[in-house]
Amino acid sequence: MPRETWATRAGFILAAVGSAVGLGNIWRFPFITGQEGGGAFLVTYLLFVALIGFPAILVEFVIGRYTNLNPVGAIRELGSGAWNYLGWLFVVTGFVILSYYSVVAGWFLRYTLIGVTDGYALAGPEEAGALFGTVSTGLDSLLFHAVFMALVIGIIAAGVRKGIEIGVKVMVPAIIALLLGLAAYAFTLDASTAAYSYYLSPDFGYLAANWASILPAAAGQAFFTLSLGMGVMITYASYLGEDRNLAADAGVIVTLDTLIAVIVGFVVFPFLFAAGIEPGSGGASAIFVSLTSAFAGIPGGRILGVVFFAMVGIAALSSAISILEVLVSYLIDELGVARVPASVALGVAVFLLGVPVTIDLIFLDLYDKLADGVLLVLGSLLLALFVGWVIPEIAREELERGIGALGGLGDAWIWIVRIPIVIVVLISLYLGIVDYVDFLTGDLAEWLAAR
Ligand code: PFF
Repeated sequence: MPRETWATRAGFILAAVGSAVGLGNIWRFPFITGQEGGGAFLVTYLLFVALIGFPAILVEFVIGRYTNLNPVGAIRELGSGAWNYLGWLFVVTGFVILSYYSVVAGWFLRYTLIGVTDGYALAGPEEAGALFGTVSTGLDSLLFHAVFMALVIGIIAAGVRKGIEIGVKVMVPAIIALLLGLAAYAFTLDASTAAYSYYLSPDFGYLAANWASILPAAAGQAFFTLSLGMGVMITYASYLGEDRNLAADAGVIVTLDTLIAVIVGFVVFPFLFAAGIEPGSGGASAIFVSLTSAFAGIPGGRILGVVFFAMVGIAALSSAISILEVLVSYLIDELGVARVPASVALGVAVFLLGVPVTIDLIFLDLYDKLADGVLLVLGSLLLALFVGWVIPEIAREELERGIGALGGLGDAWIWIVRIPIVIVVLISLYLGIVDYVDFLTGDLAEWLAAR
């Protein structure tokens, strides 16, 4: 059977945007921005997206389009020796990320349903915290993790055109429409002025004093939000049937993802300010506890809550399918397994790996810090080294296909990939490993000792 391809250019772009826009934009971005000083973080993040994220997404695009293969096969075709194992890193990362991503996405589905059936009329933060406790662990969490994975499997089993492409053509416009509606509402809140000024006026003194934590946080967020470092963009570009301008496509994708993250800030910060909640407080539970309290306290909160949580659920779904597709494309290309059994088998395996997260939130940290702080960053580092130093000529020619001769710009791209990206990612990787070791010897060790 011939390998599948996208039906339209919009299909490819929307699929990539759907992958990029997810929990990273809506759940992670506002809380990291809050933790790292508001406007000061925002400026750094925007700079990193343009200078590092854009060249890095092209790295994955050229590999995918050149080989028309899944990430494992693609790297094997282009490299030799130890490079052959790089594709495997992506498979491991995909399993880990999707397993907890699905659990968290399931919470958003559950919260949407709570809004529909009961509303968010909670007595206060304690009650909101207790609600989060019942949603995030135990049978509820397991059930919604299963529902979410079933949706992911269903879309991926239907294929590139009939599943992913049709799915994202509905989901991405829905996300944008819901988000713009929420932003327009947030604008009418009295608290919005204070929230915007917190968000939009960077304090450069703060930046100068805290750059050591702001820089890696901004780099990590840029890679995570663009779905880089685990072969998603390789896989999606491998379904390109024709030569088009990859740089132009990347420009659209990166701009849309960034705009959506920035607009999420225009929604979340006014809600938090309106409810008198400090941005950046709390961890994984923060957005659930603070936003349900916020929705309980503002007019129309119930509908807003349903719209907000549903939007996040949809955004998470369009990202999750891209991760399962990496794994499924491997089984199809390399082992000749048919799409439907490959999707079901891998989806069930991912579901099982996620089960511990539904039992105790310590596993969320165990998986998330490993995947986010270490595996994705390592993947990005190795990809940059591979393209920059092992196959620069092939990469450059591939980028020029569909654009024309790039001259100095092509050289600039290769050199950005070779040195600045490698340095920034190396620093982030170091910090990510230190953080993970801290976690293993600290929180996890304590947790184990208490058993
Ligand atoms: N980009 C997604 C988000 O912002 O939620 C997360 C993600 C998807 C990361 C796929 C990595 C990945 F391979």
